[in-house]
Amino acid sequence: MKKIIMAGLMVTVFMIASSFAEEISYTANIKSIFDQKCIQCHGADAPEYKEFKKDKKKYIGLNKGPRMDSYTYLLYFVGWPDTGALMRRLDDGNNTKNGKPGNMYVNLGDTEAERQGNLEIFKKWVGNWSLNRWSVAKKEEIEGMKVTY
Ligand code: HEC
Repeated sequence: MKKIIMAGLMVTVFMIASSFAEEISYTANIKSIFDQKCIQCHGADAPEYKEFKKDKKKYIGLNKGPRMDSYTYLLYFVGWPDTGALMRRLDDGNNTKNGKPGNMYVNLGDTEAERQGNLEIFKKWVGNWSLNRWSVAKKEEIEGMKVTY
């Protein structure tokens, strides 16, 4: 009997521990990946999205994308108005229309294992990994986004 209780207890402890491990947040997980893999082109010296759109050629020539270096900035490319942009660009090809990876997937790591690992973290953070734009996204898709701070 004691053994069974002990085993049950251990399973419970394990489940609690792993559910904590599953909780992905911007501050604990995403920011450090972003600072390693994305900030050189999407940091404080990168333009606001609207500014970027005005003069795309110039900024691409400078290897600068739109600025995304904070929680608030980054959400612009997840939820609204650039709904699904982060997901379309980071997807490995499993959810894209043409089956090709988004063009930022390559930046997720130096090896396929690293890219897959970091993609998994982004997916868990977003929660509902939908590549849809605002014009076609359903309300439930937006509501399903976790994006914990
Ligand atoms: C070497 C520079 C570079 C790195 C590193 C980089 N990006 Fe980009 N990114 C760009 C440029 C330039 C663009 C704009 C051109 C384009 O749309 O492809 C862009 C576009 C984007 C867009 C689309 C924005 C829009 O117009 O909707 C997203 C989302 C994005 N990047 C996310 C990321 C993430 C996340 C990382 C890190 C994993 C990352 N990028 C790493 C240069 C970079």
